[in-house]
Amino acid sequence: MRAHVIILGLLSLCGLSSSQECSPGFLENVVLLGREIEFLYSPDAEHCRLLCTHQPACRFFSFTRPDSGDEKRHFHCHLKSSSSGQPEGQTSQQGVTSGLSLKSCNTNSSRNKVYHSVDFYGADYRTLFTADYEECQRACTNDPSCQFFTFLNETFTPADYRYKCHLKFSWTVPRTTRIKKEAGLVAGFSQKIQMTLTQSETACRTQLFPNTVIPGNNLENLHAASPEHCLALCTAHPKCTYFSYASGDFTCHLKNNLNEMVVKARDGVTSGLPARFCQLDNSWIKETHAGVDFWGSDYHDVLADDAEACQRTCTEDPNCQFYTFVTDSSPALSHRGICYLKRVITVPAPPKVSKLAAVVSGFSLKNCVSSPPAPTTPTFEEAVTSFT
Ligand SMILES: *[C@@H]1O[C@H](CO)[C@@H](O)[C@H](O)[C@H]1NC(C)=O
Ligand SMILES: *[C@@H]1O[C@H](CO)[C@@H](O)[C@H](O)[C@H]1NC(C)=O
Repeated sequence: MRAHVIILGLLSLCGLSSSQECSPGFLENVVLLGREIEFLYSPDAEHCRLLCTHQPACRFFSFTRPDSGDEKRHFHCHLKSSSSGQPEGQTSQQGVTSGLSLKSCNTNSSRNKVYHSVDFYGADYRTLFTADYEECQRACTNDPSCQFFTFLNETFTPADYRYKCHLKFSWTVPRTTRIKKEAGLVAGFSQKIQMTLTQSETACRTQLFPNTVIPGNNLENLHAASPEHCLALCTAHPKCTYFSYASGDFTCHLKNNLNEMVVKARDGVTSGLPARFCQLDNSWIKETHAGVDFWGSDYHDVLADDAEACQRTCTEDPNCQFYTFVTDSSPALSHRGICYLKRVITVPAPPKVSKLAAVVSGFSLKNCVSSPPAPTTPTFEEAVTSFT
């Protein structure tokens, strides 16, 4: 398994289809048995495998195809693992495709893949009318926020929505699932996490309003370690017009109101504006947070001498996005010295996928332009034997 960590950081959405030689192939009409880690929606088995590859704990998956008789489970992508890393067994089931994670493989692209009569439901942030789905896909590719799209074609009913192109957003920046206060812990980020949100080289003038809340207009509630972290999340979301961050419980409230911004004084809350046309100051990534746990999303733990060593380990591991370290002052004696490495899926993933006539869905092609060559590509034998 030693090779898999090196390659993962280089996969992009282009890896929707992988090179033949590395592909362990798919098992048709088979369910692989194991512990379920997570269930997500996915348009096909290849994308499901990509999600599995990016989910650090996932070793294999089972995907329910739209031709399955089990309609309620259409497009379900089940990410799985087991103590040995191998499937614990298999059962046959019509309409299910299964396979292994490609963590050890280099991937290749199948760029123009689109999904006919498939709706990537939800996550809309902008709509426009386009002559065909190809133009809709180009609109998506050219919009920095767009990760995938759904186009309603010329036979769609009701007719008033024909030729409508829905641009959709999903998070591609790491989000900590939960942050809480916990004595004796130290949490922080990998110094290499990708937070390049804008092309501009002009430094932003960060606009924060201390002890100010902007009530209502909630778009999405997340967790953030600092107001600056919340600002970066707001900047990444195309619908975020401003945000309020409560330091007491680390909640980052992204807000949407294009018309007005009504502020009120409130202690412990910092509000602010996104910065999309300048270079954001990412120094919040360098901060470590004592007495704080970035809870969950663990994929691995190692022993470390101190919090700095834990941060170095996280930074050196391309899988790692953030970490929590248990210091010697933690009341949890048996956990002292443990460095928990963490990550979340940042591959574009529609919140829901379903069948719908006269629509076409697909992904932005912008991540396909360049994918750096893997510095140490495992051979096919290494890739295969790492799973056996
Ligand atoms: C990727 O695909 C291209 C075109 O199909 C092919 O020429 C190339 O050899 C492939 N690369 C790998 C690593 O398989
Ligand atoms: C529009 O959708 C219908 C129903 O899914 C399909 O039969 C037709 O071929 C589509 N038209 C185009 C141009 O793709």
